[in-house]
Amino acid sequence: MKVLVFGSLNIDYVYKVKHFVQPGETLASDDMQIFCGGKGLNQSIAFCYTGIDTWHAGAVGRNDSDMLLRKLNEAGVHTELVQKTEFPTGHTMIQTTPEGENSIILYGGANQTITKEYIDSVLPFFKKGDYLILQNEINQIPYIMERAHEIGMKIVLNPSPMNEKIFDMPLSYVDFLILNELEGMQLSGILEKEGRQILDALTKHFPNAQIVLTMGKEGAVYGYREENYYQPIYPVKTVDTTAAGDTFTGFFMGSIICGKTVKDALDTAARAASIAVGRNGASDSIPKLDEVKKDERWRKGKEKRKLGLYN
Ligand code: RIB
Repeated sequence: MKVLVFGSLNIDYVYKVKHFVQPGETLASDDMQIFCGGKGLNQSIAFCYTGIDTWHAGAVGRNDSDMLLRKLNEAGVHTELVQKTEFPTGHTMIQTTPEGENSIILYGGANQTITKEYIDSVLPFFKKGDYLILQNEINQIPYIMERAHEIGMKIVLNPSPMNEKIFDMPLSYVDFLILNELEGMQLSGILEKEGRQILDALTKHFPNAQIVLTMGKEGAVYGYREENYYQPIYPVKTVDTTAAGDTFTGFFMGSIICGKTVKDALDTAARAASIAVGRNGASDSIPKLDEVKKDERWRKGKEKRKLGLYN
């Protein structure tokens, strides 16, 4: 069983700031770090850390992407299918505040140069039952989904960042939908930030998809047909939330693919995301599975935690 993450690869320029820059303001930052990121790259690494045979496809610049490919290779992700182009590698400018919040400017660069020919050269390496993992930072996603559906791959969509392009995708093909509350509101049309209502609406709209709705500090809810679970967070001091969602997605799906129950997968994902939130950077903040298993910080409170039907 193989996992193909067809997604973005970005160089993240992370600036520590006292507050997010305001219109017309020039704001000094005395701490800038460069990290390997992109929702695709982050999720590839998180998958690989759960022990999954993970392949990355996507596009980078020929001359400015060595650090990204090295990072994927060091994590154990296969990079043979990544396309090197004459376009600049995608990058972000990320502001992080002392509270650990972030705001991101994304320049797509090579991530937005995916062609149908390239997709047709990648997908024959995969077969029925393999998993395709998608986010929304590359172009041509509807075509990738069509081809993968023809092959019989399982499709996992993390519709992030949310924009109107999501509505052009053949969403009925999606087997797993993993999204946050704001994305859930836009997709379901529910106007209130109310997790249960959003989840109920999404499970009605997408009856064939297993859905995980993440709600930041409020935890996450899972819904599929008659099955519902609530997963609380494991509290930590927030350092930087960048890639926490990618960590959650990779560890949840990685655990499911490894045969764990939904409850176990949610718990592992919540633990891994908590560790990521306590660290700086995107892919650098993602823990290995061993670290997640060995983390003793929450052991004492574990017995008190209730995981089950959220109603
Ligand atoms: O999800 C976090 C990622 O979003 C960052 O690594 C950044 O590259 C943006 O794509």
